[in-house]
Amino acid sequence: MCGIIGYTGFREARAVLLDGLKRLDYRGYDSAGIAVIGTTLRVYKDVGEIANIEKQIPALKGTTGIGHTRWATHGGVTKENAHPQLSCDKKIAIVHNGIIENYQKLKETLIKKGHKFVSQTDTEVIAHLIDEVYDGNIEEAVFAAVAKLKGSYAIVVVSENEPEKIIGVRKESPLVIGVGDNENFLASDIPAFLKYTNRVMFLDDGEFCVITKNAIRILNAQKKPVHKKEEVINWDVKDAEKSGFPHFMLKEIYDQPETIHQVLRGRLSEIEQTITFSEDVEKLLASKFSAIHIVACGTSYYASLVGKYFIEQLTDIPVEVALASEYRYYGSRNPSVLVIAVTQSGETADTIAVLKDAKNSGMRTLVITNVIGSTATRIADSYILTQSGPEIGVAATKTFTAQIITLLLLSLKSAVLQDTLGSAEMYTYIIHLKELPRYVRDVLQRTDEIKAMAEHLKDATSAFYIGRGVDYPIALEGALKLKEISYIHAEGFAAGELKHGPFALLTKDTPVIAVIAQEATYDKMIANIGEIKARGSPVIAVAEDKDTEIEKHADYVLRFPCESKSLSCVVIAVLLQLLAYHTANLRHCSIDKPRNLAKSVTVE
Ligand code: AGP
Repeated sequence: MCGIIGYTGFREARAVLLDGLKRLDYRGYDSAGIAVIGTTLRVYKDVGEIANIEKQIPALKGTTGIGHTRWATHGGVTKENAHPQLSCDKKIAIVHNGIIENYQKLKETLIKKGHKFVSQTDTEVIAHLIDEVYDGNIEEAVFAAVAKLKGSYAIVVVSENEPEKIIGVRKESPLVIGVGDNENFLASDIPAFLKYTNRVMFLDDGEFCVITKNAIRILNAQKKPVHKKEEVINWDVKDAEKSGFPHFMLKEIYDQPETIHQVLRGRLSEIEQTITFSEDVEKLLASKFSAIHIVACGTSYYASLVGKYFIEQLTDIPVEVALASEYRYYGSRNPSVLVIAVTQSGETADTIAVLKDAKNSGMRTLVITNVIGSTATRIADSYILTQSGPEIGVAATKTFTAQIITLLLLSLKSAVLQDTLGSAEMYTYIIHLKELPRYVRDVLQRTDEIKAMAEHLKDATSAFYIGRGVDYPIALEGALKLKEISYIHAEGFAAGELKHGPFALLTKDTPVIAVIAQEATYDKMIANIGEIKARGSPVIAVAEDKDTEIEKHADYVLRFPCESKSLSCVVIAVLLQLLAYHTANLRHCSIDKPRNLAKSVTVE
């Protein structure tokens, strides 16, 4: 949660910081602010989104500064609690992402020493701690202050007395250095500075960096210099822009045919009929383990449930899927289990906590993530990148389908290694994977039908999604998409479970979206649809183009094209994303930044 940025170089810092914050506001958008060092340090901050705050900020001279966009944890959404936070003399400014667990105790001690606090944040404590020990060397003061902190943090600090210098430090919250020519950047995430540079350095936990326009120094917690390799990110700046779409979410939904190509790139060989991962991932998959436990949160959890179907269908490996926030306290510590963490951002606090515990217990760990250099990739034994490009909309879309396809590739590879998959079956999967972008493109062209269905949904106060088999997690994800962006209460159920309780909630005003794509359970789904209609609820069936029966049973039908039963779930997921999008749009909701949510959930 929260996005932070720092800049020092030759450009006007105001513009660089505001632009960076706009690109980071998916991480939080309760309030925002910047501090720029000119002849003095000047701070502008307020509640609301950065675009509104920008209007209040005058032209500022100064080529060094820091900025922050907030998702409130400690202290309400007020101007005082917005960052940057300042020292008593207002000469030191800091921005912070994370939580300082011992801030209350530190605050009491600092108050006794005469420090005056103006906010309810944990962050302000850091500014005063630095102030307390500052004697002309900001680097030393940050070192001394950070040694007193307990919790998680990415912090960026500037001092009016030492202009053109930024100090950054991270522990369990992301911070990445953007390496430029005669300018350097610090940010929570790469899109913040991608417009200026694609050369990056990732800080590890406990590391500090001291940045000027011409130099980057990295030190570990013992103040020993650390040599970091510069990495080049192959994301295009256009990937982090709307490219003419009204919302990032819509753009990212439409990115999906290309995303699928990217996920398969370098992994799938049609000619040799092989699937290739990096050497260490292949070694890990070939090793002996008693079970796979997949851990994740939110949308990534639903992708993991789809992954369970794939792995168990194709191999003999038993799979459990758990919410990271639960597994952390109740999960296995058995070293013979392989833990796979699925996380778009690679920064979700609960998922990271599981990875750390698993490593400490001697379990092997693999991460499926979209973000190279993220905390998860640094902890796990191995990682697979979903290669989807940056996803800015808070609602996960293209990264969900990329996770599903990556999990399918992993299942196929494991099946080959275990000798549980024949070459004819493999060939069929490869052909279907290759055809998938075409089917997704086809769904993307069905806007009129989907918009018409959104008209039926838009005034509902509650909606149910149902499915069986692999369509069940797709129903869960469809419901999550609708609720998070349209604020309509939506729940997903395994279709057979409705009669065990949820039926009590059905009324004629409760639309039920029934995903009906699996042959094996087709008749059972038809029976479930009948039961729902008998209670008077309207049924919107999501069915294949070729299904000639469904119209007799459902009130409305949304159609999808797809030859493959296993991969139809990807095509349906895209259709349900569009249904949620158009419903939310008709309700005039804040689609890219839904209320109370942030993209990267770095608090437990
Ligand atoms: C879904 O649209 C949300 N963005 C959310 O559920 C998300 O999937 C969850 O917070 C997990 O994030 P991660 O994949 O980055 O770990």
